[in-house]
Amino acid sequence: MDYLSITGPSRLHGEVQISGAKNAALPLIAATLLSDEPCTVENVPQVADIKTLLKLFSKLGSKYIFEEHTLTIDNENITNTVATYDIVKTMRASILVLGPLLARFGRCEVSLPGGCAIGQRPIDLHLKALELMGANIDIKNGYVVATAPEGLKGARIIFDKITVTGSENIIMAAALAKGRSELINVAKEPEVVQLCEVLQEAGVNIEGIGTDELIIEGTEREPLKLSPFSIIPDRIEAGTYLCAAAITYGSVTLHNVRSDHLDAVTAKLHEAGCRIESEGASMTLYPAARLKSFEISTTEYPGFPTDMQAQFMALATQAEGVSIIEERLFENRFMHVSELQRLGASIHLKGHTATLNGPIQLLGADVMATDLRASSALVLAGLAASGTTNVHRIYHLDRGYEALHEKLKMLGAKLERLKE
Ligand code: EPZ
Repeated sequence: MDYLSITGPSRLHGEVQISGAKNAALPLIAATLLSDEPCTVENVPQVADIKTLLKLFSKLGSKYIFEEHTLTIDNENITNTVATYDIVKTMRASILVLGPLLARFGRCEVSLPGGCAIGQRPIDLHLKALELMGANIDIKNGYVVATAPEGLKGARIIFDKITVTGSENIIMAAALAKGRSELINVAKEPEVVQLCEVLQEAGVNIEGIGTDELIIEGTEREPLKLSPFSIIPDRIEAGTYLCAAAITYGSVTLHNVRSDHLDAVTAKLHEAGCRIESEGASMTLYPAARLKSFEISTTEYPGFPTDMQAQFMALATQAEGVSIIEERLFENRFMHVSELQRLGASIHLKGHTATLNGPIQLLGADVMATDLRASSALVLAGLAASGTTNVHRIYHLDRGYEALHEKLKMLGAKLERLKE
């Protein structure tokens, strides 16, 4: 197992290229199951979660070549529609094959993902919607066994809660269903929007893209012809580098970004005293004279993303005054609190709200990564801390940040990737 050894404090400076969005690439690769012809996807990030999904695709009988950031995938000869426990347990997003497999083949089995470090994370809304589309769903031996021998039918579905992968699964299912689906209270995240745009480009009639109500006319099981497309930039990776610049009082320019996807994040960085300038696909963060405290409440897009909560908590340790951070989406997404406290952070946790007093001079220590975004918060804190911070279990970081340690090194961070 590898760990990151960071010597701080350092001041980041320079330019960094942002990779394609993991959370857009996962559903879009799943969507290639809706086609029986080869399809090319550009700007795919080289991260562990993508490789895990491709391993699952190999087991399904898919053929692909993934070189640099280009994926060419051919799902003509899918021979198996079972997503087994050994893969799903390592990556919950494997559930994204449920909608497209069922829609195209009328049957599939997907291992139940179970809980994870950030909370319970049920999939009841995915299943309920598929049932409304005519699927029979059984839970057997830890698997969701879904059948729709006559194919799925369009339906009116009101999501009780906004769910990102739930919306994506049902959008993909509706694309091949018979007739019209009306989806209400759908997630509006940019990753969901890109999925709709790619399906629309393939000839699926979708109204309301970018809103919380979609009308989708299905192709009645006619496989799609997907044109080549490129994955949108990763807004969470971009936000993480902005925080890295801000926490070290550095100045960093990001390339290959969509600044419009980052409005809620940049608004908070402004509040903290930083200046951000955007031009085309680039944006530069200029440091605050003195970081100021802020308040955050996570919510669905276009609100402040839960996937940036941990990084802003690291930032709040360096901000003057009392910062308040409320997590509203996941019940247990505060695993980084105790690790930040090991570095000396002053954090009081009550229910879903963390209250921080800053600024605190953090001191390097050994800390343990618990999930993807929590891990990146520990790296940010390590950049600001004096002395050596060793972040253990960085396989979490490898799941979603492409070449994190190389990118940070290019920005002047002093860090090494070492073996335990
Ligand atoms: C997606 O997870 C992302 N993953 C997460 O990113 C992200 O944190 C999350 O959306 C919220 O933005 C991918 O896109 C692959 P949800 P997802 O369903 O879809 C409840 C990262 O670090 N819920 O939108 O699994 C659920 O428990 C990851 O990259 C139900 O109750 O999240 C949660 O409280 C981590 N029943 C809320 O909805 C359901 O059937 C939102 O979850 C589904 C969800």
